Amino acid sequence: MFSPASRCHSAMESRWITTADFANRRSMLTQAHAKARGLADLPPVESDSLLGLIALCNADPRPEKIDAGVGVFRDGAGRTPVLNVIKKAEQRLLETQASKGYLGSAGDKRFTELLRPILLGEHADDERIAGVQTPGGCGALRLGAELIVSVNPRARVLVGTPTWPNHAPLLRSAGLEFVEYPYYDRDGTSIRFEAMMSALKNAESGDVVLLHGCCHNPTGADLSDTQWAEVTELVASRGLLPFIDIAYQGFGRGLEEDARGLRGILAACEEVLIAQSCDKNFSVYRDRVGSLFLKTGSAEASARAMAHVFQRAREMWSMPPDHGAAAVRIVLEDPQLRADWLVELEAMRDRINSVRRRIAAADPRLAFIGGQYGMFSMLPLVREQVLKLREDHAIYMADSGRFNVVGMADSAIDRFIAAVVGALDA
Ligand code: LMR
Repeated sequence: MFSPASRCHSAMESRWITTADFANRRSMLTQAHAKARGLADLPPVESDSLLGLIALCNADPRPEKIDAGVGVFRDGAGRTPVLNVIKKAEQRLLETQASKGYLGSAGDKRFTELLRPILLGEHADDERIAGVQTPGGCGALRLGAELIVSVNPRARVLVGTPTWPNHAPLLRSAGLEFVEYPYYDRDGTSIRFEAMMSALKNAESGDVVLLHGCCHNPTGADLSDTQWAEVTELVASRGLLPFIDIAYQGFGRGLEEDARGLRGILAACEEVLIAQSCDKNFSVYRDRVGSLFLKTGSAEASARAMAHVFQRAREMWSMPPDHGAAAVRIVLEDPQLRADWLVELEAMRDRINSVRRRIAAADPRLAFIGGQYGMFSMLPLVREQVLKLREDHAIYMADSGRFNVVGMADSAIDRFIAAVVGALDA
């Protein structure tokens, strides 16, 4: 029914998961945990690497500590303030919200509608693209993965290494098989583009390819426009299903520029999934504000797929939390607030890029950081060096060497650079 260029389409059209499939999954789990009889029998769980790092840093009594671990924007004073536009929108919400009645599994429909031009650009009016509000980008990733498994319980997702540590748990727990492809050479501080392309050439029609829309987490190394074009052509011609995770739009080069790769994919591929987040560009991290968009070959097929999305959402969280999305909606609906948001977003982006330039200028071995985008870069340090930075300098970053370039106040940047250069010299 579909050409190889739209194998992803036929993937979505194949068999929907049945109650029997769920029963099988449950019985497999039951066998795996045959020995666990009560909650007390559950084995210990290692804490999530990034969340564990927040806890470790919080517990460190040294006042000079630098938390470059978790990915939240901090301003020059080292704070993560609520944006002025969000404060104003929340005030308006408080004064005008007439009801807290249920909105349904689609969440705030006006919110997703208003996101369309920002995210989809020239594709905003394409009726084959449908969206749903989700609890943050994580909710969108998980929901998208659930949808894929509903279509094809044996689907594989190809994910570049390294990637954000939560990708594997989110996608695997939906039942997707996780297959890695090389993405970044940490020691060479560059994208392994040829290796990536040859791995993707081996992918099978119908495989899902996870791509970072912009501001790659954890490396900051984004595909160039030419590389995006090559990846797009390969994904479309091999009939792979692109699943784009875009959590930092506006933190790299600008709202438009950061969505260029994604929009090229939308132009070339019949079926696409997009996990989007407003947590960072509206600074509403804990409010969990995101969306999942899908594209199929027709408006009817997309509406049908969306009905399954709502069902999967209902099974997991029933309806997304309202508050943050409502505040974002108010900002986007009001021309003045929207204009003010763009200014606040630009200020965040400018800080990220100016700290990048400052670190890059400090030492030739750090120059690569100036050519990257978003909050993260990955230092070519081994785990022992990262731990030593923690012990000797109270500098916290992920064991992989990933650090948040705006994790520190302006006043701490020189100390951070000196410590990192010391670690590279050692
Ligand atoms: C990060 O990568 O630090 C953020 O996306 C926070 C998280 O949930 O991991």
